[in-house]
Amino acid sequence: MRLGLVLVLVLALALVLAVGSQPLDHFPKEAHSLNWGKFSGFWYIVAIATDAQGFLPARDKRKLGASVVKVPKVGQVKVVIAFSRSQGCQSQEVTLKKDRKKAVFRNTLKGVKGFHVLSTDYSYGLVYLRLGRTDHSYKSLLLLDRQNVSSFLSLREFLDTCYTLQLTKEATILPKDASCAHTILP
Ligand SMILES: *[C@@H]1O[C@H](CO)[C@@H](O)[C@H](O)[C@H]1NC(C)=O
Repeated sequence: MRLGLVLVLVLALALVLAVGSQPLDHFPKEAHSLNWGKFSGFWYIVAIATDAQGFLPARDKRKLGASVVKVPKVGQVKVVIAFSRSQGCQSQEVTLKKDRKKAVFRNTLKGVKGFHVLSTDYSYGLVYLRLGRTDHSYKSLLLLDRQNVSSFLSLREFLDTCYTLQLTKEATILPKDASCAHTILP
C-alpha cells in the first residue's frame, strides 16, 4: 500500500518534470499585439539570466533591478534600466526603434541588438535582451514585475524560457533589496 502510493507519486513527479522540460516549440514568441501604453511605466527586475560574464556583482551586492519604459511615439520606446553592478548601482537610458518588419526594438549604435517582450500580462513581463557589437553578442532574459516579488507562474515561465535559451545555469533570482531600483522611480 505504502509502496504503491510512493510509486504513484514518483510517476506523477516524472511526468511533471518531463512536461516541464519540453522546450518551447515556437520560440521566440513575441507578445502578440503588445499594448505599449499598458506596458510602459515602472518595473522591478526580479530575476535575470545572462551569459555576459561579470555582469552580475558578487552575491552580497545583488539587488532588485528596475526599468522605466516610456513610449514617446509610435515605433519608439525609451528604456531606463537600473542595476546593481560590482561598481555599485548604475542606470542607463536608451531610445530604441522598432524594426520595420519584426516586432523587435533596437539601437545598434548603443549596443542594443534586440529588446523583445516575449510575454506579458502587464503585471509581469518577460524580456529577451540582446546586447553587443557586430561580432559579439550577449543574451539576457529579464523577468519584470510591477511588484517586488514574482508570481509562481511567471517564475515558471522565466525558467522554462531560460531552458530554451540555454541560460538555465545563469538564472538568478535577485534579493528583495529595492535600494537601487528605487533610484529611478518616476
Ligand atoms: C515590497 O513591496 C511591499 C509592497 O509595496 C512593501 O511593503 C515591502 O516593504 C517591499 N519589500 C521590500 C524588501 O522592499
